[in-house]
Amino acid sequence: MAKKVTEFACQNCGAVYPKWQGKCDACGEWNTIVEEHIGGEGFSNIAPRKKGKEIEFVGLTGEETALTRLHTNIKELDRVCGGGLVPGSVILVGGDPGIGKSTLLLQVSASIASLPDKPECYYISGEEAIDQVRIRAKRLKLEQTPVHLASATEVKDIIASLEKSKAAVVIIDSIQTMYLDEVESTPGSVAQVRACAYELIKLAKRKGFTLFLVGHVTKQGAIAGPRVLEHMVDTVLYFEGERGHHFRILRAVKNRYGATDEIGVFEMQDQGLVEVENPSALFLAERQGNVSGSCVFAGIEGSRPVLVEIQALVCPTSYASPKRAVVGWDSNRLSMVLAVLEARCGMNLSSQDIYLNIAGGLKITEPAADLAVAMAVISSMTNKPLPADTVIFGEIGLSGEIRAVSQGNARLKEAHKLGFKSAIMPANLFKKDKNHSIPDMSIYEIGNVQRLVNWFN
Ligand code: TYD
Ligand code: MG
Repeated sequence: MAKKVTEFACQNCGAVYPKWQGKCDACGEWNTIVEEHIGGEGFSNIAPRKKGKEIEFVGLTGEETALTRLHTNIKELDRVCGGGLVPGSVILVGGDPGIGKSTLLLQVSASIASLPDKPECYYISGEEAIDQVRIRAKRLKLEQTPVHLASATEVKDIIASLEKSKAAVVIIDSIQTMYLDEVESTPGSVAQVRACAYELIKLAKRKGFTLFLVGHVTKQGAIAGPRVLEHMVDTVLYFEGERGHHFRILRAVKNRYGATDEIGVFEMQDQGLVEVENPSALFLAERQGNVSGSCVFAGIEGSRPVLVEIQALVCPTSYASPKRAVVGWDSNRLSMVLAVLEARCGMNLSSQDIYLNIAGGLKITEPAADLAVAMAVISSMTNKPLPADTVIFGEIGLSGEIRAVSQGNARLKEAHKLGFKSAIMPANLFKKDKNHSIPDMSIYEIGNVQRLVNWFN
C-alpha cells in the first residue's frame, strides 16, 4: 500500500523540512512551518487522478491583443507602472507605516474617478473608519470626487459587492487586515494573507479591474506575509523615504508590464503628495558649494538621470576598530572602495572613522557611484573641496581601474541642464558610441583611481 507522503513547508519562504520545527532556518521566522500532503495514499484519495487533456502548442508569433492602459493623471505613478495601469493587473504597494501609502492611493483613486469617462473606483479600507478617510479626503481637498468608499475586512463581502459593479480600479488598504472565514487564523497571518489575496486576485482577473493591494513591511523592510504574495501579483512597488525628509520615492521592484528600477518622486506637503518633475533640483536644493567631503553624483534611476549629493566625513577614530557608517548606499561597496584606496593609492584609512551619506534620503544601488564616493572620501580626508560645478560618475574595479558605465550621455545632459560646467568620468566611455553628443562641458576622463588622488595635490 502506498504510504502517505507529507512534508513540512515554511509558509513564509517556502523552505521544506522532513520534520516539523518551530523556527524556519531559511528565513528565521517562527511558527510558519505547516504540514502539507504532497502525494501518496492520502493525497490521491482527496484528489482522484483524472486523465489530462492535451494542450495545444503554438509558435512565438501571433496576434496579441494590444495592452490598453489607464492613465491616472499622476505621471510619476504611470511611469513606475510602465506607462499606465493595465486592466486586470494586480499591484502590491509596500512601505513603512506612516510613509504615505494611504494618502497616495486615495489621491490615485480620486484622480482616476475624476477622469473624463468616469471610471468606477473603489477604495476599501480595513484599517481606518469611514470618518478617518473622509477627514483625509477633506485635507487633500478631494472630498467632491466620486470615489466609492467603504470600510470592510471580510473578503467574501467585498467580492459579493464588487461582483455587480463595473469597477475599473479597486484599492484594498491593507491586505493584512483582510479576513476570510474559511481560514482558521487571525488576519495578517500567512495563511489569511495568502488566501485573501488569492480570492481578490481571481476576482480582479475575472472582472478585469486593476487591483491595488497595500502591504505592510517587516522590520527588515520586506513586505510582510508570505513571499508568495510577491509572486502572485504582477507588480510590486515600494513607497519609501526617510522619516525626516519630505520627499517620497515610489520604486518598482517587479513589473510584468514594464521596466523595474523605475522611480517616481513625490513630495509630502500639507495638501498631500505632490509630483516632483525635476528630482535632481530637489535633491540638490540644500547643497552648499565649496565644502570638502561633498560631491555631486550623476546617477541613473530607471530611465531617468538623477543628480544627488554624496557626502563623506573622515575623522580620526577613538575606537579600537574604526567606525564605518553608511546611509543610502551599500556598506559592502564602501568597504570595497576604501580597500582599493588603501591598496592602490596608499591612503591610510585604518585609523579613520568614515561616515557616508546620500543627502536627501535617496537610496543608491548603482556601482557607478563608486567614483563619487571615492572622491568624497579623498576630499574629506585632504580637506580640499571639489569645484561646486562638477559632477562625477564611474565604477571602480579592484585593481583601481575606472570602468565605463551605461548612459553617460544622459547623465551629462542632466548635469548640463542643471548648470554644471564640468564632469569627471571614466575614460573611453564614448569610444564605441559614435552617435554621442557631449554637451558643452569640460570633461575630465580618468582611467585610474590614482589620478583621483593626484587631483587634490
Ligand atoms: P498615511 O498615508 O496614513 O501613511 P500609511 O498609509 O503609509 O501608513 O500617511 C500619514 C502621514 O502623512 C502622516 O504622518 C501625516 C502625513 N501627511 C501629510 O504630511 N500631509 C497630508 O496631506 C497627509 C494626508 C498626510
Ligand atoms: Mg495607511
